[in-house]
Amino acid sequence: MGGLKKPVIAGNWKMHKTISEARILAEEVVRKSPEVSTATLILIPPFTAIAEVKKVVAGSQLLVGAQNLFWEDQGPFTGEISPVQLKEAGCQVVIIGHSERRQHFGETDETVRKKVLAALRHDLIPVVCTGETLEQREKGQTLPVIKNQLEQSVFSMEADKFEKIILAYEPIWAIGTGRHATPEQAEEVQSFIRNLIAERYGKIVADYAIILYGGSVKPDNSFSLMKEKDVDGFLIGGASLEAESFVAIAREAIRAYEGKK
Ligand code: PGA
Repeated sequence: MGGLKKPVIAGNWKMHKTISEARILAEEVVRKSPEVSTATLILIPPFTAIAEVKKVVAGSQLLVGAQNLFWEDQGPFTGEISPVQLKEAGCQVVIIGHSERRQHFGETDETVRKKVLAALRHDLIPVVCTGETLEQREKGQTLPVIKNQLEQSVFSMEADKFEKIILAYEPIWAIGTGRHATPEQAEEVQSFIRNLIAERYGKIVADYAIILYGGSVKPDNSFSLMKEKDVDGFLIGGASLEAESFVAIAREAIRAYEGKK
């Protein structure tokens, strides 16, 4: 696995930043990005700012993503955004099944599955989120919950589709709480996920799979999290809203990655 993958550092801006604020943040990240050119940086603004951010990153290595999509290409689906629209706006990546979407907007493993297939049909890289609640963790159900989510959403896909997916382990109790998983907790789940991938698709697919960690990632915890064997990068919320901390996390991730190659 060593050396095959660059750290992937994705900033999920959630429902933050107007178009003009997004432009300023993206410009700052682009300005600092040569310092962290050995990582893959992905900016994931709200829908309204995607086209603007795309303009700012043109000519750089940065990728642009969306936070959600609908699975139809077009039609009477008021308020939804299709993969075709995302593609034309400049997206290369799309988050699917974030826990906030599952919690507040009724997303299920089945809708995640449909959305992933729609994204892949249009060459968008899906970042599929999985994670347990605090209650599930306290009851010792973490691993079965994760296994079930993945089986119901992405493991039904053939290898040629699955290979194009990025997974993100995001324990719900760690999102926006300031309470990140310890490196050992993240590694326990992420190595479990990689083993599930190996069982389902074989070792090569598992070795190449990119598994991100998300949940209160900050510059001061990113080195120790990234040092874990099965942490390939981060999905960052709060700390991605400032260029300084976003790039600092990328820097720490590169440093840790160099050490484990
Ligand atoms: P956080 O969010 O970094 O603010 O905890 C992570 C996420 O929701 O992807």
